[in-house]
Amino acid sequence: MTASACITTPIYYVNDRPHIGHAYTTTICDVWARAARAMGTDVFFLTGTDEHGVKVEKSAAQRGIPPQQLADENAAEFKRVLATFALTNDDFIRTTQPRHVTQVQEFLRRLVKSGAVYLGTFEGWYDEGQEEYHTENRARELGYKSPISGKPLVRATEQNYYFRLSAFADRLAAHYESHPDFVRPTERRNEMLGRMRDGLQDVPITRTNFSWGIPMPDAPGHVVYVWIDALLNYVTALGLAGGDASTEGRARYWPAHFHVVGKEILWFHAVIWPALLMALELPLPRCVYAHSFWIADGQKMSKSLGNFVDLPTIERYTGVYGLDAWRWYMATQGPIAATDADFNARHFHEAYTNDLVNTVGNCPSRVGAMIGKYCGGALPPDAEAGGHWPARCATAVERWEQCMGTFDLPGAARSAMDLLRQVDAMINETEPFKLAKDPANTARLHAILNQCAQAVRVAGVLLEPFLPGRCGDLADAFGGTRREDTPWRDRAVYGAIADGTTIRKLALFPRVEATAAAPKA
Ligand code: MSP
Repeated sequence: MTASACITTPIYYVNDRPHIGHAYTTTICDVWARAARAMGTDVFFLTGTDEHGVKVEKSAAQRGIPPQQLADENAAEFKRVLATFALTNDDFIRTTQPRHVTQVQEFLRRLVKSGAVYLGTFEGWYDEGQEEYHTENRARELGYKSPISGKPLVRATEQNYYFRLSAFADRLAAHYESHPDFVRPTERRNEMLGRMRDGLQDVPITRTNFSWGIPMPDAPGHVVYVWIDALLNYVTALGLAGGDASTEGRARYWPAHFHVVGKEILWFHAVIWPALLMALELPLPRCVYAHSFWIADGQKMSKSLGNFVDLPTIERYTGVYGLDAWRWYMATQGPIAATDADFNARHFHEAYTNDLVNTVGNCPSRVGAMIGKYCGGALPPDAEAGGHWPARCATAVERWEQCMGTFDLPGAARSAMDLLRQVDAMINETEPFKLAKDPANTARLHAILNQCAQAVRVAGVLLEPFLPGRCGDLADAFGGTRREDTPWRDRAVYGAIADGTTIRKLALFPRVEATAAAPKA
């Protein structure tokens, strides 16, 4: 891991209310940001709202309010979500903020000056809902219909400023070749390579048919295309073209470690964005990570079906199961890889019960109870010097670090869960409650309990980015040292609890009745 790292979510459209899609991307970034911070990395975690464009202009007009008012209202809603879910973003960028607007204009001036942006006439297949043009080949593949809304693509002609994307084809191909992890997962990388092989056409980057956007500098009537405006948020938030007091000192966070996005917006992030950065002579992000979609009970979530898991539904889940349980489900059962994941109440309940109640909750509770009963609540000494446990814990930590390095959050969670399951297995095999009946076994009993407690503590450290609420309690109950005081190397290591330390029994995750489990509307 590098000394500093930046992770970003897409910036969310303000013409939509927050739903599971937004909550998902932001939550998995939050897990990673917390993990990287725990490892001692200086993290910058960025999210925000995408506030310009014809869709926002239209929605505001329908409600009879100025677009800025619509943007203000919905940006506040997105911010409220961050606070409600205790997400640890370091900044929240809004594309209507002056700090963003002035830098976007500065970047565009640079692009015009270098010749990467020029004035020309364009004709193409336009997806009005997505505000996106498609090449002839791609439009044919799509049956001349929007892949998102299913509405027909329209043939459109415009005099516009263009970004010379075609000029970057070779450099992009070379970058993909020399950086196999630039786009992940691999299925998505292959998809991008396939589309790039169709050829890259220059992209119109201004519009003249609406006004709710950033004015193109020195070109009256032209407004910067919302996608170009939006992509630049990743560098305007760091003040790479000036910025203001809020962005000072942030240049060190570029290039981003991870841009985490949904698969539907990967082309912009994995092709247009790196080409723009090349044109601006800025380094490229280390990895663009595209997750898949949550679907609902086997069906695609869509506004027209009205089956989006929306904020009130999410809040019902967190009300019944707690915030940590929600994060756990998002991070371990979600569509992080190349396939979609089904969101359903039964599955949520099972994951909660199996992982959190029966394992993360039960194992420390058993260990704490036995130390209470047989050792008066004080950690007994271990005459066996840990046995296999120091190595097991080291392996778990190493696997966890590797998984975090590749954004494999379920894998990282598994390495901690495996450790707890091994503790459970040792208890079942060695039966401390039987050993306790004969004083001749005291040394062995003490060693086992010490080893269990030490391993539980390490597992707790590894689970903390996923379950920040309850793992704090776990750390406290197991005589833990908190992150603020202790460097990672000394925290994520076996044997950190001193003999005699008070170990408390604790109940982390209460059982929830299956009948209460489907928090429906
Ligand atoms: N404003 C653009 C992004 C610009 S970034 C420079 C945008 N915004 S959005 O509000 O539509 O948010 C899209 C993001 O929401 C996706 O990238 C994805 O992270 C998330 N999701 C939307 N629906 C989703 C699911 N059903 N499942 C999981 N995430 C999905 O696109």
